[in-house]
Amino acid sequence: MNTPSDHLGTDALVHAVDHTITTRHSVRAFLKHRDVPRCIIEDILSVACRAPSGTNTQPWKVYVVSGHARERIVQRVCEAQHAINKGDIDASTYQENFKYYPEQWISPYIDRRRQNGWALYGALNIQQGEKEKMAAQQLRNFKFFDAPVGLFFTVDQVMGIGAKMDIAMMMQNIMLASKARGLDTCPQAAWNHFHTLVLDEINAPKNEVLVCAMALGYADPDAVVNQLQTPRENLTTFSQFLD
Ligand SMILES: Cc1cc2nc3c(=O)[nH]c(=O)nc-3n(C[C@H](O)[C@H](O)[C@H](O)COP(=O)(O)O)c2cc1C
Repeated sequence: MNTPSDHLGTDALVHAVDHTITTRHSVRAFLKHRDVPRCIIEDILSVACRAPSGTNTQPWKVYVVSGHARERIVQRVCEAQHAINKGDIDASTYQENFKYYPEQWISPYIDRRRQNGWALYGALNIQQGEKEKMAAQQLRNFKFFDAPVGLFFTVDQVMGIGAKMDIAMMMQNIMLASKARGLDTCPQAAWNHFHTLVLDEINAPKNEVLVCAMALGYADPDAVVNQLQTPRENLTTFSQFLD
């Protein structure tokens, strides 16, 4: 059987894969008017669905929204977030259907989270206490950071927690396949709070739950926020080799 490295050469393949992985980053400013052709999205999804899944259950469902469908969802969720920001409705009206983050944060996670938040606000020139600017940035999530395409990932509620791992693998494949095609992405759990509105707008069957969303498009090369480089711990911090 031919392998890709038969054609590309092992060094070139390693370089291409490593380069794609290491240059992927979360983009938070997209070119609003540069559409992504549907055939490219279909290509990306066809490759990405080679992701592994427990007993090959392939539990992912992907809703691709653009054009009017995207506009409707953006408008509805932005209105809800505005109403929360103005105090017209309580934030608890819109609860995630599963807890992504812990209720009680501890070190080192809280430290990394804070570092990440301040680095992002720093890149956007938002100072501590500038709540309105922070809220405005949070709201950009619900415009897909101007990306012309949004993806929503759902799963059948009968599936176990492992299905979320499968979907995460599918999502990573999408991010890498996109990157290799000159596109960028931002995974977005922010939408999960508004899952009832999203599921209604995408006409998802009642048995489906929202797992995550993703912005997809061409990065705005002039946006400072896209220059944000996130650090990673050294491998000695997270790995152990047991002989
Ligand atoms: C499952 C998941 C959900 C995320 N949700 C959001 C989000 O809602 N909004 C956002 O701006 N970034 C979101 N991120 C991006 C993370 O902040 C980002 O991956 C992290 O800071 C590392 O940076 P990098 O992706 O540029 O390497 C999410 C990432 C993951 C993996």
